[in-house]
Amino acid sequence: MPDTDERRPRVLTGDRPTGPLHLGHLVGSLRARVAMQDEHTSFVLIADLHALATRSDRDSIERMHEHVRSIVADLLAAGIDPDETTLYLQSAVPAVYDLAVLLQMITPRRRLERLPSLAVMARDARLADDEVTMGLLGYPVLQAADILMARAELVPVGADNVERVELARTLAETFNERYEPIFPLPAPRVATVPALPGVETVPGGMRRKMSKSLGNAVYLSDPPDVVRDKLRTLCRLDGLAPDDQPLAAFVHAFLPSDEADETARAFAEGRLSEAAVLDRVVEAVEAELAPIRERRAAVEQDPDRIDEVLVDGTIRARDVAYATLEDVRRAMGLATFWDQAVEAAHARSRRRKTPFGPPS
Ligand code: TRP
Repeated sequence: MPDTDERRPRVLTGDRPTGPLHLGHLVGSLRARVAMQDEHTSFVLIADLHALATRSDRDSIERMHEHVRSIVADLLAAGIDPDETTLYLQSAVPAVYDLAVLLQMITPRRRLERLPSLAVMARDARLADDEVTMGLLGYPVLQAADILMARAELVPVGADNVERVELARTLAETFNERYEPIFPLPAPRVATVPALPGVETVPGGMRRKMSKSLGNAVYLSDPPDVVRDKLRTLCRLDGLAPDDQPLAAFVHAFLPSDEADETARAFAEGRLSEAAVLDRVVEAVEAELAPIRERRAAVEQDPDRIDEVLVDGTIRARDVAYATLEDVRRAMGLATFWDQAVEAAHARSRRRKTPFGPPS
């Protein structure tokens, strides 16, 4: 059982199941998640409802379900321990939908419309203005429901999600003021390492951050020769300062920090060839991926375990979510009204069914 010790800070993060996890996830969030799980009460959700915000056709949903299992395998392989972390499937926790509806009531529409991430997501999904759904506009409200249902205090995210965590914080403040102070105020924790660029497996791949949709990613599940070949596409980019070279980003992300500084300097000053730097990067990435690959092989030996971890985690998440929803309904007066109505209905029915009682 994960520790639900109230004194441990609560941390929550999630990924949309749009593809397997890659080195960008490892650097940007997985390392931190694994490091934090011992000292925190941690939740990691697979945000399948959020994936629907840009793709809700049947085929996409089916494909997404394959990704769910591969992400759980990736997370376990990367060192997420299901005894420490509640790993759950968002769409199987109905209280999250309910909480999202209630949070909508205190969310100013304009604030959602103004969020830069809305335009970015619409553009990336190639959605015309009139194809943008309520689901996409409300994406940050749903994310706030994820965060607040767990009463998370810390939300490790990439820079692109900071504005959404800030919205969740505003909604918590508004709720606490307007009804009852039941939510801790969540704060984003942004990875201190800059986003990892992609590899040049597609033209321009190095100029964008590593992303499954751009085809410039090195996956945690890639075999060693594929990892090596993909990394070897990294090369010097014209017009970029030495420290801004994608290769330098890999050096800083994967080599121990003293060595990284020295290597980056030697590379910048031309004392170290690109090939030599690449070899060192391949070696360092491999050193980190080898144990991950080993754990993944063990996980794949027992595929039912993947479903079991997800189901157990989701059942725990349901309890947490339901408890929060009840507190929210009570704080808003909804539960109180309903409880009184039920009580009155019962009393009336008891009176009616008592043969020698007064007439109702
Ligand atoms: N929006 C996140 C993404 O970009 C996924 C996500 C959904 C999330 N709910 C969350 C992240 C709650 C942190 C906290 O994929």
